[in-house]
Amino acid sequence: MKNFFIFLIFIGFIACNHTLTPEEKQEYSDKGKEIAQVSFNALSEKLTEQMKTGGTDKAIPFCNVEALPITQQLSEKYNVTIKRTSDKLRNQKNKPTERELKIINDFNKLISNKQEIKAIVEIDSNNKKHFYAPIILKANCLVCHGKVGELVTVKTDSIIKSLYVNDQAIGYQEGDLRGIWSIAFKK
Ligand code: HEC
Repeated sequence: MKNFFIFLIFIGFIACNHTLTPEEKQEYSDKGKEIAQVSFNALSEKLTEQMKTGGTDKAIPFCNVEALPITQQLSEKYNVTIKRTSDKLRNQKNKPTERELKIINDFNKLISNKQEIKAIVEIDSNNKKHFYAPIILKANCLVCHGKVGELVTVKTDSIIKSLYVNDQAIGYQEGDLRGIWSIAFKK
């Protein structure tokens, strides 16, 4: 009987020992980077188009309607779940999980210590693989995420607030961590 329990503990240990080989880590890191880049390009291409034709104030309602469907379509194409999340949300639908929030906090600590941040690849207790990478704000993001009265006009702010009552994604500077890409693989 005792041996049987030891056997169970042993099996349990093997079953819970979720790790990725260095080759798998590299593979998921490459895939994650590619998917994040394609998603970023798709979003920014559409956004730039809107900004050119109607300016910032027209681009905001566009993001409101189109941003999530764009990442959803790409999620289907790549057979993954693509998410952009943040500790200061604009759209509550992008709410972070506990793990995502921990990674955002860790990335923020690295940035304040002027250390390099690298993408993370890991496997969870359900054997699901995840890719997380930082989203850093560039100068051209600040018309919608910068300081009100500086790069964000009062009018733009009121359009944002009319669509996102609890908007927190404002007041940033160039180089700040806006959030992360979180990509969950289905296989
Ligand atoms: C025209 C205004 C505009 C510009 C420019 C803009 N954003 Fe946003 N951003 C938005 C809106 C609106 C949302 C909410 C989208 C939604 O409803 O899904 C958003 C959401 C996000 C989110 C998702 C997390 C959340 O809080 O909901 C991230 C990450 C983000 N933006 C990063 C950026 C980065 C990085 C840039 C520059 C490369 C940028 N944004 C430029 C308006 C803008």
